[in-house]
Amino acid sequence: MYGPHVALDEMSLKINSGATALLGPNGAGKSTMIKTLLGLIQLTSGDGEVLGYNIRTEGDSIRQRIGYMPEYDCLTPEMNAVHQVKYCGELTGMNTNIAMQRAHEVLEYVGLRDQRYREISSFSTGMMQATKLACAIIHDPELLICDEPTNGLDTKARGFMLDTLFQVVKQGDRSILMCSHLMDDVEKICDRIVMIHKGKLIAQGKIEDLKAIDREIEIWVWGGASRMETAMKDAGLTPRRTGRVMRVVRQDETTYDLVLELAAKAKVQIRRMEDYEPSLEDLFLVIMDRLGYGVKSSADLLQSQPPTTSVAPSPSQPGGNF
Ligand SMILES: Nc1ncnc2c1ncn2[C@@H]1O[C@H](COP(=O)(O)OP(=O)(O)OP(=O)(O)O)[C@@H](O)[C@H]1O
Ligand SMILES: [Mg+2]
Repeated sequence: MYGPHVALDEMSLKINSGATALLGPNGAGKSTMIKTLLGLIQLTSGDGEVLGYNIRTEGDSIRQRIGYMPEYDCLTPEMNAVHQVKYCGELTGMNTNIAMQRAHEVLEYVGLRDQRYREISSFSTGMMQATKLACAIIHDPELLICDEPTNGLDTKARGFMLDTLFQVVKQGDRSILMCSHLMDDVEKICDRIVMIHKGKLIAQGKIEDLKAIDREIEIWVWGGASRMETAMKDAGLTPRRTGRVMRVVRQDETTYDLVLELAAKAKVQIRRMEDYEPSLEDLFLVIMDRLGYGVKSSADLLQSQPPTTSVAPSPSQPGGNF
């Protein structure tokens, strides 16, 4: 709690090694969650461990072992990049010479080889984000915690940041807990997600498993799309239609036959029918929808008002069955 404000509530979870994203709209509690795991803010109640260290009492040991890229500006403007990064290495306990050598290496790794002697005050947002990443990986941590790593970056810088993180995680075989509200970024790097909203856990699991809850068939029809839509509704399906393209939930194998029968009866031609591969964005919307939030896009969600219906999932089934 921040004073009387409950920022995280009934947040009971275990995150295994690997690449995990902490997802949720603005104000969901992502940064609070991360700061709690790092021992940077004290829990009001509850307990936890990171890499076997207690988050209440062993914050120093946790912070020494992980790499943290905060969302806020954490650099010293009057330092040059190489000294800033070296300093971060020293803070984790590295010897000065090794820290200096590593600072050069990691700055090259994040694409700042030529700018490493420049003062940070002259850096663009992209260069500052890259410097923050260099600070976080100087000691080659087994776990990297990144809060909105692509925040404020243009397309090119964002692509480069994601590629670099991907390399650290996949080729370097390191774990990452990455906080974001950008589904695309998450899908590039992470295999698992933890989704939170208004301080509560709403879903957790492998992206591919979570996507399986949202199996849909995409149907392209020719002539009589409205008739087809009505026929499907009458048959108990709930089509979502955009022009001639419709999607229905695939209940089981028989859904395909049912759709074909309905089309024959309605005298509608089906031009194409295939399983639809949902994006993480689709998944987010489905989950929010099932929890009673009337949102149409994640952009809506970012400004969403409190829901009008009751939404709390059972605390005994965090991320449970939708
Ligand atoms: N230092 C603070 N004092 C009081 N309230 C705070 C503080 N920090 C965060 N909050 C509140 O706690 C809630 C969770 O905030 P938090 O920063 O963890 O969200 P977030 O998911 O990281 O959001 P964003 O996507 O905007 O970074 C919000 O309602 C926020 O206003
Ligand atoms: Mg945040």
